[in-house]
Amino acid sequence: MESGGEKLFELGARLSACADFVRRGRIPADIGTDHAYLPIWLVQTGRVPAAFASDINEEPIRSAIKNIESHGLSEKIKTFTDDGLDSIPPHEVDDIIIAGMGGDNISAILSGGEWLKNRRYRLILQPMSRASRLREYLFTNGFDIIGEKAICEAGRLYTVICAEYRGAAVVHDDSYIYSGRLDCSDPNAAALLKKQAEILLSMAEGCAAKDDYSGQAHYIRLAEQLIESIQGGISNDKGKGSI
Ligand SMILES: C[S@@+](CC[C@H](N)C(=O)[O-])C[C@H]1O[C@@H](n2cnc3c(N)ncnc32)[C@H](O)[C@@H]1O
Repeated sequence: MESGGEKLFELGARLSACADFVRRGRIPADIGTDHAYLPIWLVQTGRVPAAFASDINEEPIRSAIKNIESHGLSEKIKTFTDDGLDSIPPHEVDDIIIAGMGGDNISAILSGGEWLKNRRYRLILQPMSRASRLREYLFTNGFDIIGEKAICEAGRLYTVICAEYRGAAVVHDDSYIYSGRLDCSDPNAAALLKKQAEILLSMAEGCAAKDDYSGQAHYIRLAEQLIESIQGGISNDKGKGSI
């Protein structure tokens, strides 16, 4: 399990869920890598032969390089200090991981990579906020969600979205934007969707305060749909693809 450097560490639940979506034997690029824990873990366990790790800021990349060196993986994990996908060689990567950033920042990074609109690539995205806007960005730009998992780490709930390009804008209703492919029989997914339903209800209140009663009805309907799927333990995994 080791490559001559430090012992293998355990990934937390959040990064572990990201790692589970990375395809074995493929080459991942971890954008916004910070400490580089994920690429180190992926290479050191042998799940992937090599990886790219990039970050927009100098300080995180310094820490990434230090950790990569201490695990003896400098030959296998190439680092860049750059914005988003800049510097990532499209012909050398397969899986793009963007974790631990806001959903809008993730969408902005993806929009800088027209080359990602190709079935070769897999996107593994873990938004810290605005997951619904990220899903909407994906559907509008021809990506569909092929898997999604909710996890709880240190008392906070997160979702990890796995998406691939489908070639045309993905037809979607609003409930797909808010529920993604979360499976409500999973307690973490149910808790995350309950939180989402509460947000929708407060958006409905905001509409009512502005006398926007059709907006209010719209958000109440969406919240009710989420609550129904939680109560029914329904999987939102609509069989749109396979991992
Ligand atoms: C909170 S850390 C997440 C680290 C790691 N991915 C994780 O999930 O544990 C976010 C990192 O993203 C980097 N970042 C933010 N915007 C970026 C961008 N446009 N391109 C590359 N890196 C970015 C930040 O410098 C920071 O190191």
